[in-house]
Amino acid sequence: MKPAVKVTITGAAGHIGYALAFRVASGDMFGQDQPVILRLLEIPQAISSLNGVGMELEDCAFPLLHDIVLTDDPSIGFRGTDYAILIGAKPRSKGMERKDLITENAKIFSNQGKSINDHASPDVRVLVVGNPANTNALIAAANAPNLKLSQFTAMTRLDHNRALGQLANKTNSLVSDITRMTIWGNHSMTQYPHIDNCQINGKPVFDLVNQDWAIDHFIPRIQRRGAEIIEARGLSSAASAADAVVDHVHDWALGTRDDDWVSMAVHSDGSYGIDEGVVFSFPVKCKNGEYEIVQGLEPDDFSIARLKASEKELLEERKIIEDLLPNR
Ligand code: NAD
Ligand code: LMR
Repeated sequence: MKPAVKVTITGAAGHIGYALAFRVASGDMFGQDQPVILRLLEIPQAISSLNGVGMELEDCAFPLLHDIVLTDDPSIGFRGTDYAILIGAKPRSKGMERKDLITENAKIFSNQGKSINDHASPDVRVLVVGNPANTNALIAAANAPNLKLSQFTAMTRLDHNRALGQLANKTNSLVSDITRMTIWGNHSMTQYPHIDNCQINGKPVFDLVNQDWAIDHFIPRIQRRGAEIIEARGLSSAASAADAVVDHVHDWALGTRDDDWVSMAVHSDGSYGIDEGVVFSFPVKCKNGEYEIVQGLEPDDFSIARLKASEKELLEERKIIEDLLPNR
């Protein structure tokens, strides 16, 4: 049997963490031949609730779950970990934008970046989910000087999956028929869900939908979907966010399909003219545990304006938390 993969989930007693831990333990993230050890990190006030999550995990008797560590000490939570999934943070409520959380949540990610630097596996891969996710990933990486920027990513896979769902509905197709969906930019209202490169059963998307639908309905719907869910549930998305975490890490670890790509927010390397000082969602392909930004796409002027608007917002967010970026 393969050695167990260690997965740290922060905020594991929260809504997303609770939905995620069982998916990881059941083998959804790494496959049915890969044992896992869960290291669940919470704040002291949530330890009783975390103990309950631990009991339920035990009661599932998951064959692949080789150990569970429950802690409020980051040095234990991140010890030797292979994958750190940073969820623990405050969610927004009705009427807020995700960036309104920046001052409250930013400090969590500078502290956790330091702790990951000092205690995690040197090959750790980090996914930031807590909002504003792109800028929190920037902060965590900047506080982990021994690790590479490419080890830190933020989640736009939920937006990507939302976009697949809406396009499948519109075209009466299956999500599995659609390839080459792209989310560019920030996990915020300025994100740019982009269908121009999509194919449905290998045919160009514009055989089935037109530009007006994309501009007037699809793009704003995806941009506002998080708020739409908060409006309906009174709480932010949780099960779908956990599902997107499973997809993001699964594809990063095990690779993407040859004929497709996925969206991940990663440190910009200047591709598509995006400033290297931000974490930006790009189309990426993954292989052997590494991601590569897809090159050679030709966004039109409408699209470039949207990429630039999201870059501008990320540069503004960066300015607000500049004092938490000591090393880069
Ligand atoms: P929640 O309030 O239900 O849970 C958050 C949990 O984090 C709580 O249990 C809390 O005790 C814990 N926590 C807080 N600070 C912590 C710390 N320093 N260390 C460890 N744990 C800590 O919230 P939720 O619904 O699970 O959402 C969590 C975050 O994820 C929010 O910021 C939300 O906006 C964000 N989110 C992002 C996406 C995305 O697509 N990127 C999607 C959904 C939600
Ligand atoms: C989402 O996209 O559902 C999350 O980022 C939660 C939110 O605040 O919208």
